[in-house]
Amino acid sequence: MIRDRAKTGIEGLDEMLEGGLLTGRPYVVSGTSGTGKSTMALHFLVEGAVNGERVLYVAIDEPPNEVLLNFRKMGWELDGIGVLDGTPDVLNYDKTPVRDVSSERKIVPLSSVGESIRRTSEKGPTDVTVNTLQELIKQEFKERKYTRIVIDSLTSLKHFYIRTSEEFATLQSFFRTLSDLGATSMLTVQIPDIARPGIESQLARGEIRLHKWFDGRGLMRGVTIEKYRGSSHDSVMRHLKITQHGIVVPKSNRDKRKKSPAPNKEPEEKPPAAEKEEPLPPPPENGMKDVPPPGASKHMAPSSGSGGPGGPPI
Ligand SMILES: Nc1ncnc2c1ncn2[C@@H]1O[C@H](COP(=O)(O)OP(=O)(O)OP(=O)(O)O)[C@@H](O)[C@H]1O
Ligand SMILES: [Mg+2]
Repeated sequence: MIRDRAKTGIEGLDEMLEGGLLTGRPYVVSGTSGTGKSTMALHFLVEGAVNGERVLYVAIDEPPNEVLLNFRKMGWELDGIGVLDGTPDVLNYDKTPVRDVSSERKIVPLSSVGESIRRTSEKGPTDVTVNTLQELIKQEFKERKYTRIVIDSLTSLKHFYIRTSEEFATLQSFFRTLSDLGATSMLTVQIPDIARPGIESQLARGEIRLHKWFDGRGLMRGVTIEKYRGSSHDSVMRHLKITQHGIVVPKSNRDKRKKSPAPNKEPEEKPPAAEKEEPLPPPPENGMKDVPPPGASKHMAPSSGSGGPGGPPI
């Protein structure tokens, strides 16, 4: 049976996505720095791997040894995740002509990556293009059929490998390649200005936006679905937590009500306090006040950047 939804493995998020991501399509996970994009992307791969899928992580921001160190602490099963080191210093370190680079890159299990600090090239990434990576991914798919792929991050890929004048065409080709390969892909995108989404948001079939801001209680995190072609979705922001076991997004009260026992039955136990859904103020977008006023709407702020009450983006 062909499953048309790929679960992210994050219960509340899958609920927001009406069961998960429509398979075989590219999606963007966007947010400012440190909002949890890489963690969410890895969580998505781990979910696939534990269910026997072939999954591939393309590391562009951080070398695989650092990724391994970061995520081993989560207690995840990382054996089933293939990793391709696409960090620019590696692609440039040995003076290999561009056309040959792809044949020399090797995909290895993430869990087998050495922990030592890797050398860093002093050379700039001038002779490598996104096409190199695109061709390499295509080659790999001929040998192994991956069902999930993560590019972390598309922002760095653009920065290092794409000339501004060719940005739209190159990204369009990259997104098309990912679609043609049939894998469900997640591309992380760092957005410095939440009010101005880039071309990648336009090209992706859907966008999950991660938020963080300070309120009176400290650092708050939230998640919204900005767009989802071909599916209905929840348009209300939910709390998001990064924990030792990955990302947690609470399920909705609506769902809990459905599962509550019949009126003539005593509930077996009280729900844990941690699962109680708190009212969520809108995310800060454009440097508003630090603390939202009491009774602030829990609905997401429009992505136009009109903003809502809350702290400045961090
Ligand atoms: N075990 C943990 N428990 C709680 N929070 C954690 C844990 N591990 C990481 N974090 C939080 O997650 C943040 C980093 O998440 P992540 O690397 O996924 O963000 P990112 O959006 O990919 O960032 P960048 O844009 O810099 O790549 C850390 O800054 C920290 O706040
Ligand atoms: Mg990251």
